[in-house]
This record gives sequence, C-alpha cells and structure tokens, in this order.
Amino acid sequence: MPVLGMLRASFAGQQPFAGLTIACCLHLTAETAVLVRTLTAGGALVHLAASNPLSTQDDIAAALAAEPGVTVQARSGVDRGGYYEHIHRVLDSQPDLVMDDGGDLVNALHEARAELVSGVRGGCEATSTGAARLRRMAAAGSLGFPMIAAELSAITRMIDHKYGTGQSVLDGILRATNTLVAGKTVVVAGFGPCGSGIAERARGLGAQVLVTEVNPVRALDAIMQGFRVMPMSAAAPLGEIVITATGSREVVGAAEIAVLPDGAMLANAGHFDVEIDVAALTAAAVEVHPAVRPHADEYLLADGRRLILLAEGRVVNLVAAEGNPAAVMDTSFAVQALALAWLAGAVEGQIGDQDAPRGLVLDVPASIDAQVASLTLASLGTRIDELTDAQLRYLQSWRQGS
Ligand SMILES: NC(=O)c1ccc[n+]([C@@H]2O[C@H](COP(=O)([O-])OP(=O)(O)OC[C@H]3O[C@@H](n4cnc5c(N)ncnc54)[C@H](O)[C@@H]3O)[C@@H](O)[C@H]2O)c1
Repeated sequence: MPVLGMLRASFAGQQPFAGLTIACCLHLTAETAVLVRTLTAGGALVHLAASNPLSTQDDIAAALAAEPGVTVQARSGVDRGGYYEHIHRVLDSQPDLVMDDGGDLVNALHEARAELVSGVRGGCEATSTGAARLRRMAAAGSLGFPMIAAELSAITRMIDHKYGTGQSVLDGILRATNTLVAGKTVVVAGFGPCGSGIAERARGLGAQVLVTEVNPVRALDAIMQGFRVMPMSAAAPLGEIVITATGSREVVGAAEIAVLPDGAMLANAGHFDVEIDVAALTAAAVEVHPAVRPHADEYLLADGRRLILLAEGRVVNLVAAEGNPAAVMDTSFAVQALALAWLAGAVEGQIGDQDAPRGLVLDVPASIDAQVASLTLASLGTRIDELTDAQLRYLQSWRQGS
C-alpha cells in the first residue's frame, strides 16, 4: 500500500493526531491494519471495533492489539449483542474523532452515549449506506458533529466502488460457485458506481447484463453504456445470476423469488444484508441445503426450482472473496486518513484552526482527492503534464475567448 506508506512517513513528521483518540468501526482486515498504523504514526490513539463479524480476521486483530497505541474489540462471528458490546467498549475511549463504515458507531454514539457527542470533533464515513443514514440524521438536526462522506470522493467512487467492487464482487461469485459467467444472463440491481462496475466486469466475462434502476438518470446512463434496462419484475425471470447493489431493501423479494429461473444464483454487494429478502426465501423453501459449496446455500422450492443464495445475502465480495484488493483500499484509506487530518485541523492550509460546521455531512475537499491521485500516480511511476503559465492565464481569464 504505497500511498498509505507515503502518508505514514509524512504523518510521522507532522503528527496531525498528536494527543487525539480515534474510535473506528471498520472491516478488520490486513489493509485496515495498515491504515491504523498510519494513524498511530501521526500520533493517534486508535480504538478499533469490527464493522462486520464475518469479515473479521482474528489473526490481524490479535497482531494489531499487540501494537502500542491500539486497542481492538473484535472476534470473527460474534452475534449482534457482541457486535454492539465491542462498539460500546470502543466508545468508552471518549473519542475526539471517529471513523465509521455503515454508520453503526455514530448511531450508537448518538442514541446510547449522547454524553460523548460534544467531545467529538468530527469523523469520516466510508460507505454510501452509512452516509445516507448520516444525511437523514443531519436533516433531522440530530447529528452532533461534522462527518465527511468519503463515498462522495471522486477517488473513492472511481477506484473503490467502480473498479474495486466491480472486480471483487465477480471474484466472490466465482469463488463461491465456480460458474461460467460467459453466456449467462446477469441482472444487476442499481447502477451507481458499484453496480456500474459490476455490470462492466460481468459484461467483460461474456455475460448478457440487464440493469434495474429507480433513478432515471442512472437508468439512461446504463442504456447509453449499452446495457438493457428494465424493471426487476421483467428481469427476474431471466436472471441466472442476480446481483444487488442498491443500498435499499428487499430488491429481490417474494415476487422475484416466485419467478427466478431454476438454478439462479443470488448475490448481494450492498452494505446491509437486506437487499435480498432471505426471510421470504426461507419461507418459500421446502428444504434448505446449507453450504453446498463454501458460502453457497441451496434453497429447494415447492415447485422443484433450486435457488442458490451466496454469502447468506451479505456482501459477497467480503464474505466469499477477500474484499477489495489492497491497491484499492490504499487509495480509499488515504482519502479517509487525510479527511480525518483535515478535521483535526492539522493539515496546513486546508482548515487552519477553524472548526468544520457541526452537524453537517461534508464532501471530501477536492484538494484531498487531488493529493491522493498525485500520490497514486507517483507510486505508479506515472508523470503527467503541467499547465504552462500561458495556459493557466488563459484558463483563468474571462477576457480571452476564441
Ligand atoms: N461490497 C462492497 O465492497 C461495497 C463497496 C462500496 C459500496 N458498497 C455498497 O453498495 C451499495 C451501492 O453503492 P453505490 O456507491 O453504487 O451507491 P449509490 O447510492 O450511488 O447507487 C445505488 C443505486 O441503486 C439505485 N437503487 C436504489 N433502490 C433501487 C431499487 N429498488 N432497484 C434498483 N435500483 C435501485 C439508486 O437509484 C442508485 O442509482 C451501497 O449499499 C454501498 O454501501 C459496497
């Protein structure tokens, strides 16, 4: 992760987090460990809980917990009670800054630990779904500190959601099923950055890709990119592989389960496990054959059709594969680390000693995207042109035309 490596070296000199405590709720993976080391190199005390018990790597958790300046509350497979207990133990640290992935830590902080809210300078949210929850909190006047939505960063949407998730979701499906994608009809629900990346990668493997959307602009974009767009009611009977990436719920529900073809495989890429209605699938089944392959459960329906649910309807790329490749997390975490440093008021020329407005969901400053892009290009050994003085003057002037 060369970009975080470069940031770690500069943070070690600048100490942007000197004396600050950061509470994190993130997927507990090796890449997250590199992020945590970047934050501690910058002077932070980091308290880390896992944002998904199924993606927790216990060996990484143990190794991180042994490092100075870090505590870890995580164990793979803990139940819901254990998950929230870990979040509360992390909040016991009385954080100055927070990093969240899905919004559960910020939510618990406001709902159950309101006495801590005033002490938090701000934080960063990694996912679209978490950011959407934050925006609802902000609209209701219930968000007590500024949160930066990393998902809106141009870098994150491009590298992480589109190219990273696009690839790793297909990777998860292939590992769980070893199916031949070429010639299959793949339905992708949602054409945001994630869905469009998944659709492109499925097409690259030779699938016929159908897209479902509720947003007319995104639907039009899918058509212009050469995908067929139709309602889920029309796509479901054709879907040999159905992938949800909407951030919404019950996108594949009882009505779709009733018409999906025999052998259809169902996978979810959205943050929460509510996009495929697993309860409806269970209710429709006369028999469930768990783990016919690792992370693939077969549901036998009364009419003899078999549907294959991957990763129990949870994020398929994290459960059945290894999530995003390290190179993707390198850029995403670099954006988040710089965003936190910006909130800490420590990156010269970006926020100075001013507080960011409380209770708002903020975009990642464009300068941070540019900084991460420049570092990534440097890590790739790629040089780009610079504007000449004459070009700069021309572009800045409104007097010069044709
Ligand atoms: N698996 C991963 O590694 C990973 C990575 C990043 C984001 N995510 C998650 O993936 C989901 C999508 O992320 P994104 O960045 O593309 O978000 P996005 O909000 O930009 O795009 C989601 C799209 O789904 C559409 N949509 C909503 N409800 C729908 C429905 N019922 N039917 C069809 N389309 C519908 C929306 O109109 C939107 O265009 C989110 O839950 C996000 O948290 C997962």
